[in-house]
Amino acid sequence: MAATGSEKQGATAYYVSTPIYYVNDAPHLGHAYTTVAGDVLTRWHRQRGEKVWYLTGTDEHGQKIMRTAEANNVTPQAWADKLVEEAWKPLWEHLNIANDDFIRTTEKRHTDRVQEFVQDLYDKGEIYKGGYEGPYCVGCEEYKLPGDLIDGEGEFAGQKLCPIHKKPVELLKEENYFFKLSAYGPKLLEFYAANPDFIQPESARNEVVNFVEQGLQDLSISRSTFDWGVPVPWDDKHVIYVWVDALLNYATAVGYGANQEKFDGTFPANVHLIGKDILRFHSVIWPAMLMAQGLPLPGKVVANGWLMVGGEKMSKSNLTGIKPQDLTSHFGVDAYRWYFLRAISYGSDGSFSWEDFSARYTSELANDYGNLASRVAAMVGKYFGGALPQDTAAGNAEQAVRDGLAKAVATADRKIGEELDFQGGILAVFDFVKQVNGYITEQEPWKVAKDTTPEGQARLATILYTAAESLRGVAVLLNAVMPETSQKLWESLGAEESLGALADQRVQDAGAWGVLPAGATVTKGAVLFPRLEEKPA
Ligand code: MSP
Repeated sequence: MAATGSEKQGATAYYVSTPIYYVNDAPHLGHAYTTVAGDVLTRWHRQRGEKVWYLTGTDEHGQKIMRTAEANNVTPQAWADKLVEEAWKPLWEHLNIANDDFIRTTEKRHTDRVQEFVQDLYDKGEIYKGGYEGPYCVGCEEYKLPGDLIDGEGEFAGQKLCPIHKKPVELLKEENYFFKLSAYGPKLLEFYAANPDFIQPESARNEVVNFVEQGLQDLSISRSTFDWGVPVPWDDKHVIYVWVDALLNYATAVGYGANQEKFDGTFPANVHLIGKDILRFHSVIWPAMLMAQGLPLPGKVVANGWLMVGGEKMSKSNLTGIKPQDLTSHFGVDAYRWYFLRAISYGSDGSFSWEDFSARYTSELANDYGNLASRVAAMVGKYFGGALPQDTAAGNAEQAVRDGLAKAVATADRKIGEELDFQGGILAVFDFVKQVNGYITEQEPWKVAKDTTPEGQARLATILYTAAESLRGVAVLLNAVMPETSQKLWESLGAEESLGALADQRVQDAGAWGVLPAGATVTKGAVLFPRLEEKPA
């Protein structure tokens, strides 16, 4: 079998994708959650000095988009254009998402290649014509198995509902083209067994393995009752099923069938980040489609849990009115990027609460981290005229801080860079921040400052150097999560001038000691985390 994403060679990019989001509405906190996670992961790898490719985009075909456009009296294309330009792209820019490309499934670079891919499968005998009848959920754009459905209550009493959207399914009967998915069950199981990390977390992996073990049905890959999609090349009365069209974005965006060099240097993805709602598409259908073409399989499919509101998956219909921008205007973009990854263990469900965000902001960001940065800069200013002194009198207490930084670097690099345990990685850095705060409290530099003997001044210098050099490490470690804050801190430490751009500091080397040179100009920069205003009404 061809190399998988986890076995890609050195010259190739570390390729991470988000789902491509439906453009039936504007983005909400749940979409931003996955996209921020991908941004942190890719910034982390960039800061390791790796070549990285971070892809996001929009899924624009299918009945769901078509119906929304119809309800708004515009064409689906006009609807998608408007949403992409006015809602999706601006939000990613606002949240400082450093994606390398943005693919839209209505672009010709995508649709042409989708047709070629499907034609190829047809020519290989992987696709046949057949009939299908079954319950369909337009919200999911998926045929459901009768056993998946739940009984409706209240206004939906007597009807069968989609368990995710809690809306009635529609009975669809169509003559379509089918992909021989059922033939791939044994090969998929073999692949999961040989690549135990392919699906994460463990609970997601178990769910998929159980599902495949029960036997797969062939997949209907065309629709003939509406026309908002990519035409089936050999039969233009059909359009290609929106999920087949959508999954192929991961190949078409990186040059499949168009730019072989780019494709070879990027594909397959090392990590597909997804929500657990779309797990089967990514861990069953997508690998089977690639197997059918003899293409290499992705490294990992990592499913995040759901952001919940009032005990339900946050969705466009139950948003309770909170937009990402409502939170960023109150807490700032960096705190927003930090909060969800810090508060929720990646892979688990989590509830958002304004109170929890405020409490963590104040205690962890403003008090622990922000205050440390401002106290250290103020003391270097007061006692040394803003010139970073040398640490000539280091002892056990300083060694413990140095060891603490080295440990934080190793832990964060493993947890964020490899395990996608964002919470664990962030906590490792904030534990170190706590350690440095404790060190300052114990050393009491403001008392040592009163000792004007050379020994006393050497101790004071050593304490402040130790604290500043620790912050140098913290700025590097938190740059992927909170890039604007890290930049402010970097400048306040005089590091931009003495060490160069923050982005060029290798994260794996951040635990080295003595990097910030004595004499660096430390200034009291802007407050990193201003006191919060009153919660908006
Ligand atoms: N268009 C498909 C994906 C195609 S990928 C080839 C789709 N789009 S979606 O707009 O519904 O977005 C799905 C993704 O958004 C989820 O998989 C998840 O990554 C993210 N989230 C949407 N709501 C979410 C929550 N409430 N919580 C966490 N993530 C959620 O499905």
